[in-house]
Amino acid sequence: MDNKGFNNKNKHYQKRINKFLADFIAKNYAESNRLIDAMSYSLLSGGKRIRPLLSYATAEALGMDIKRADYIAASVEMIHAYSLIHDDLPAMDDDNVRRGKATCHVKFDEATAILAGDALQAMAFEVLSLAEVNSGIVVKLIRKLSFSCGAYGMAGGQSLDLESENKELNKQQMDTIHLLKTGALIAASVEMIGLLYAQDKTKKSERINKALGDYAYNFGMAFQIIDDVLDVIGDEEMIGKPIGSDESNNKSTYPSLMGLDASQQAALNHSKKAVEALQYLPGDSSYLKFLAEYLISRQS
Ligand code: IPE
Ligand code: IPE
Ligand code: MG
Ligand code: MG
Ligand code: MG
Repeated sequence: MDNKGFNNKNKHYQKRINKFLADFIAKNYAESNRLIDAMSYSLLSGGKRIRPLLSYATAEALGMDIKRADYIAASVEMIHAYSLIHDDLPAMDDDNVRRGKATCHVKFDEATAILAGDALQAMAFEVLSLAEVNSGIVVKLIRKLSFSCGAYGMAGGQSLDLESENKELNKQQMDTIHLLKTGALIAASVEMIGLLYAQDKTKKSERINKALGDYAYNFGMAFQIIDDVLDVIGDEEMIGKPIGSDESNNKSTYPSLMGLDASQQAALNHSKKAVEALQYLPGDSSYLKFLAEYLISRQS
């Protein structure tokens, strides 16, 4: 795969998830009221759609029709949108710009932003419950997603992240925060597809599941390390959110702990490990490889 092929694939997946989300809202939440407007504002406001991209690409790397990944891809993006709305609130990171636009609480108001996050979280489980697979698998998907965003996943990580303000953490503590606040949902985006695959191929899936877990873990770590790096050296217009947010909140980050060069090196190491794990996948994983490599040089 070359750059052009990678970019085309990104666009193809992004178009697919954007359409799926817009159609879902149009069909099930056609009414316009303050809450639904705030939810749509944040959910349909672009972004890289990395988590859906991962779901689609994992499906392809496992030789599955990407249609089967739609509901999973939508559910992780809904959780992600909710997490960003809450992350930007004054009680958390207190940021005013997201994806180049006013954050939800600035555009609407704080109470509406809190409720929009709550309702997007509920919507994620609603969409997952509609996945066209047998109900036993739906239960497994719901369990995986709930674990990834709960107290032992994203929300737990966000809590530790806030507790870490004005403190000096060691690398292990830092990694735990990254793993939970960002890695868990990224892992769910990949591993939920693994659950579908395991249902199809009951016997041969163990090594593959381990590979998916390794890929996603390292991808998630690299992704958040680079997010922290971009918060220092990124271009505000390109990343669409304020740089220097972490420093002004006195956050513990990779750059604050070990400096920029060592942070970039750590991200590169994780990216390489992610790529190594791909050898165990049965289908074409060249896009997943490209994505893990792109991560390191991303500007947004
Ligand atoms: C930002 O996520 C928050 C993190 C967990 C690092 P993204 O960088 O995926 O944000 P969007 O969706 O592209 O805006
Ligand atoms: C947020 O990490 C992780 C989430 C679960 C939303 P950050 O606080 O660093 O994300 P940005 O930089 O605001 O997107
Ligand atoms: Mg934060
Ligand atoms: Mg933030
Ligand atoms: Mg950040």
